[in-house]
Amino acid sequence: MTGDHRTDATAATDGGHGLLRGKIALITGASSGIGAAAARVFAREGATVVLTARREERLRDLAAELREQGAEAAHVAADVTRREETSRAVAFTVERYGRLDVAFNNAGYGEGRTPLHLMDDDVYDRIMDINVRGVWNFLRDEIAVMLDGGTKGAIVNTSSVGGLLATPVAAPYVASKHAVIGLTKAAAAEYAASGIRVNAVAPGTTRSEVVEDWFAKNPGMEEALHAATPQPRTAAPEEIAEAAAWLLSDRASFVTGATMPVDGGFTMV
Ligand SMILES: NC(=O)c1ccc[n+]([C@@H]2O[C@H](COP(=O)([O-])OP(=O)(O)OC[C@H]3O[C@@H](n4cnc5c(N)ncnc54)[C@H](OP(=O)(O)O)[C@@H]3O)[C@@H](O)[C@H]2O)c1
Repeated sequence: MTGDHRTDATAATDGGHGLLRGKIALITGASSGIGAAAARVFAREGATVVLTARREERLRDLAAELREQGAEAAHVAADVTRREETSRAVAFTVERYGRLDVAFNNAGYGEGRTPLHLMDDDVYDRIMDINVRGVWNFLRDEIAVMLDGGTKGAIVNTSSVGGLLATPVAAPYVASKHAVIGLTKAAAAEYAASGIRVNAVAPGTTRSEVVEDWFAKNPGMEEALHAATPQPRTAAPEEIAEAAAWLLSDRASFVTGATMPVDGGFTMV
């Protein structure tokens, strides 16, 4: 657990709109892709960011980059499947910054591309453990500290277009991302009256490193996805991060229990 403590968060907010000014934000899956983009977007929008994932080196480098730009950033390594580690990450945030205002539960994992009846139990267990238990683990401690601190907090969980519809040869991933929406709605219903909002984003195909690798190994896949998407392209990680930033901001003050597709229209057709 490291990260310098600085109070001057002006430089990194250049170009932002102060959407998250003064907010203490925890971001899971911050070592790459959408989570790393969220760290940059949230910092630019004025948040103090705590970055978590397993690859500590990447977190350390990203936190240092943000601090160089004048933001306040720290990191804490945690595996989302281990409750003691997720609890430690939330506790670290509160110990260091006094409270938790907003959380982006974004860590996730997919593998398989195998017909359902041939899929290994191991694959199912791994995906459910990271995508569902991972959100479950963080959600409980985040809500607990928001209630304790009297914070009118906001939480965004990362689902997927696979949480809204089914695509073939991805049954555990589809089930896990539907479950993330279920957890989002259940938590939103339970804590709305306490002032805590809980929403989800449902990204379409987004050009993170894993997806770029997948495209490289599967020629024609990218073009096929473009053809199936009204806006005929894939998303940049920043486009998902921007939606999460808005949902976490006070501008979305009457939005809870919602799942926002960020998919170029993929799920509307
Ligand atoms: N890219 C897409 O097309 C797409 C589409 C729909 C939804 N999504 C969802 O968007 C989220 C981010 O994905 P991405 O595209 O940005 O992929 P990514 O670059 O692979 O990022 C996944 C992040 O999750 C973290 N993570 C995975 N397993 C973890 C574990 N056990 N404990 C802690 N952290 C863990 C990884 O960090 P470490 O490896 O360092 O732990 C990494 O930071 C995921 O929930 C994914 O399902 C992505």
